[in-house]
Amino acid sequence: MFRFATRTAIAALSLSALAATAMAAEVNVYSSRHYDSDDALYEKFTEVSGITVNRIEGKADELIARMSAEGDNSPADVFITVDIGRMGRAEEAGVIQPLHSDVITNAVPAHLRHPDDLWFGVSQRARIIFYAKDRVEHPPQTYQALTDAEWKGRICIRSSSNIYNQSLLASIIEADGAEEAQEWAAGIVANMARSPQGGDTDQLRAIVSGECDIAVANHYYFLRGFDKDIEGLSSGIDNIGWVWPNQSGRGAHLNLTAAAMTASSPNPDEAKALLEFLTSEYAQQHFADQNNEYPAVPGIGLGEGPARLGFFIPDTTTPTAAFSANAAKAQAIFNQVGWQ
Ligand code: FE2
Repeated sequence: MFRFATRTAIAALSLSALAATAMAAEVNVYSSRHYDSDDALYEKFTEVSGITVNRIEGKADELIARMSAEGDNSPADVFITVDIGRMGRAEEAGVIQPLHSDVITNAVPAHLRHPDDLWFGVSQRARIIFYAKDRVEHPPQTYQALTDAEWKGRICIRSSSNIYNQSLLASIIEADGAEEAQEWAAGIVANMARSPQGGDTDQLRAIVSGECDIAVANHYYFLRGFDKDIEGLSSGIDNIGWVWPNQSGRGAHLNLTAAAMTASSPNPDEAKALLEFLTSEYAQQHFADQNNEYPAVPGIGLGEGPARLGFFIPDTTTPTAAFSANAAKAQAIFNQVGWQ
């Protein structure tokens, strides 16, 4: 188990090694992350390394298709996506390659890296349980407990085509076996307050509107309700409570924003430098903060948003690589139990 510490100060940069090895050059990033403020992060990398960063942003599946179509001529050096299920699709498409780096291996815990170094986690997002404080006295404490008869007609969760749910189910397959995972999925369907609709924010809005008492969502959609005025959420956010699931078991399910070197990288040295930079304290803090995420590197302080959610035990026993390895099985189970 590793603990997240609350940040008190931003530590000084120690990127001189990078600066010493880098030459005037460039690196091309295909990213499904799109925060304007990431510009500052890449500018910092350029400042310390002399390497210019060119970014192409798009939906992960489109970027994977683009890299496949470009083949050996693809200018892409680095691929970044916000769900390991999608990184699995990149692996299947053959558009990423292993990167063996002591810097990354030493910084990122093994369960957040691909076993053959095909990719590594940069930041973490938790998929947890939310509830209406005024209508739920004893909220479910585990993913499994969401299937209890008590919650019949009370749970909101988005559709099975959503990759966050696919990765959650894939983790349950890994931890509990396919049979139990199928029972779990059937149990969730039986307890749904409505047919799955909308994104994670809409599940939280449904707690505010009273349409459901329990919701499953990624943690940052909730935190966004404090940072911004989100219609239908921010005004009622004080009535939403959260549960870190499975705290006396395997821990809470966390997914990853992950990065990889592309298979045809024309600038592999620069790609390696950028990927290693992403594990630095500066990049870890900055990258995580853009979306209220948790750093992948242990010991890095938390931003204000995640600190609000308190300490928790993450699932460090289920390898993240299993989320993509079990993706097809998860889809089959969703189809079988009729999770729309
Ligand atoms: Fe998201």
